[in-house]
Amino acid sequence: MKEKIKGILSEAMQTLQAAGDTQALNDLRVRFLGKKGSVTALMKEIGAAAPEERAEMGKMINDLRSKIEEAIEDALRKIKNSEKKDRLASERADVTLPGHKLPLGSLHPLTIVYHEIRDIFLRMGFDVHEGPEVECDLYNFEMLNIPKNHPSRDMQDTFYISDDVVLRTHTSPVQIRTMLREKPPIRMICPGRVYRCDDVDATHSPVFNQIEGLVVDKHVTLANLKGTINSFLKEFYGENTKTKFRPGYFPFTEPSAEVDATCSLCGGEGCPACKGAGMIEVLGCGMVNPVVLTGCGIDPEEYAGFAFGLGLDRLTNIKYGITDIRLLYENDVRFLNQFK
Ligand code: DAH
Repeated sequence: MKEKIKGILSEAMQTLQAAGDTQALNDLRVRFLGKKGSVTALMKEIGAAAPEERAEMGKMINDLRSKIEEAIEDALRKIKNSEKKDRLASERADVTLPGHKLPLGSLHPLTIVYHEIRDIFLRMGFDVHEGPEVECDLYNFEMLNIPKNHPSRDMQDTFYISDDVVLRTHTSPVQIRTMLREKPPIRMICPGRVYRCDDVDATHSPVFNQIEGLVVDKHVTLANLKGTINSFLKEFYGENTKTKFRPGYFPFTEPSAEVDATCSLCGGEGCPACKGAGMIEVLGCGMVNPVVLTGCGIDPEEYAGFAFGLGLDRLTNIKYGITDIRLLYENDVRFLNQFK
């Protein structure tokens, strides 16, 4: 019996050595310890042995069983450990490797310049408002004191949707909408697309962008208008920018002015962009016409206001030396990629 046990033990150990994976170890367990296994078979032999030997035999066989069991458990543990090591090694990621760069778009030049202008006015305490692009004739013209026979109402300039509805020809109707909705003090800018029935060429587009500004409060004067515009232009174009306020005419402001600023491309020397003048027209402005205030329910005896309107496309083109407005609307990525 002892010999048999020794034989089984050494056989088991040898098979164990050769078992390289979990499956082989499970087979081994069945072969030796399973119902029909050789150790189980030994147990059955106890019955045939002399009664005084049975206890001794049982103990030896149990010993054998637990030795084999331990050895199998041991081998299983080793295999699991090495499998874990392999897995960790294969899943290892070098976090110091540089990442893959995703292709990134860029802001449109109009957006870049709008953000710059907006931020300057936000710092001066202005709010940002918006208004609809499809606008009532009443707000686009009538309440801005643009009479029925005014040339800017001409069918050639305005896209009419119906008799009373137009594509807004400027952002000024947002002044009206703001004054009808809010009580002074008002300090707002409004960016937006505007539409005019123009043929496309290097300087004209049927759709372009304006930024409107409006301030209404007690004691607002022309000096406040000039101060605000000057601070804005100096911040936008640089501290050395000079400005010139020329008398102008807009039905909704009185008095009105057109403002020129030092050409930022040549610094005032004179270049093709400013047609040699050294100055370039950048915006229109004026004191809100009392007729307009009254129409919006604001008492011109108590309140005064100033307004301005600037062409975003124009300022963008001047800023980047772009000579053709069409480039802003064609969305050619070779052009747009230059503004990263
Ligand atoms: N709405 C004018 C235009 O489209 C621009 C303008 C001029 C706006 C003077 C104003 C202003 O608010 O005061 O040409």
